[in-house]
Amino acid sequence: MQISKIVIAIDGYSACGKSTTAREVARILGYRYIDSGAMYRAVTLYFLNQHISLTNPKEIDRALQQINISFKINARNSTETFLNGLCVEEEIRDMRISDQVSPVSAIKAVREAMVAQQRKLGKEKGIVMDGRDIGTVVFPEAELKIFMSADTNVRAFRRQKELMEKNILINLDEVIENIRKRDQIDTTRTESPLRKAPDAIELDTTYITIEEQVDEVVRLAIARKVTPS
Ligand code: DC
Repeated sequence: MQISKIVIAIDGYSACGKSTTAREVARILGYRYIDSGAMYRAVTLYFLNQHISLTNPKEIDRALQQINISFKINARNSTETFLNGLCVEEEIRDMRISDQVSPVSAIKAVREAMVAQQRKLGKEKGIVMDGRDIGTVVFPEAELKIFMSADTNVRAFRRQKELMEKNILINLDEVIENIRKRDQIDTTRTESPLRKAPDAIELDTTYITIEEQVDEVVRLAIARKVTPS
């Protein structure tokens, strides 16, 4: 028997616990974790700061050439996102970005640039990547694909709690509204809409804990990691 490294793609709706699950699964398996949503958030931050018009393709192309996104592991062993050498991990999580990221990530040129980078990061395998199109577009050959969903109110409640832990106080209705709007844009956009890949395994996280989500994905990964030589 031979143990080989695989690619694990975790897609699904906003605030289902994809990132938390993916990060923990990567830690347990000794894999690299890549948060593809952070890349779209970093692009959105750049576009907002530079006042890039979302309807001007030339401006967008020029801006994309100026953007360098990288990830580093900090002293607490968690991944931080860098935009042109500056840590933007906290800034990309606030509502200013959450409100604008779906329209930015619906732009074809933005997606092409990000997908190319994501594929490079996954070349060596041994990676867990979460997002919206990882199992359908970025790594259609991924050995394990998970598609996560959960009740909207439960997702909003969890997201609100997460923001509160970072001292960001926000009304629950506002979080529900943001999640609904993002789901709507993410599932109906022309470019790589959020879809379950036919071979993805569905995981409804409404009534399960993060620990249970992680255990399930690790179990599935281990089952696929062992391939007969
Ligand atoms: O995972 P997240 O909520 O941080 O992602 C932020 C946004 O980025 C999400 O609303 C849609 C977009 N996104 C995407 O279009 N494709 C991905 N692979 C990941 C995220």
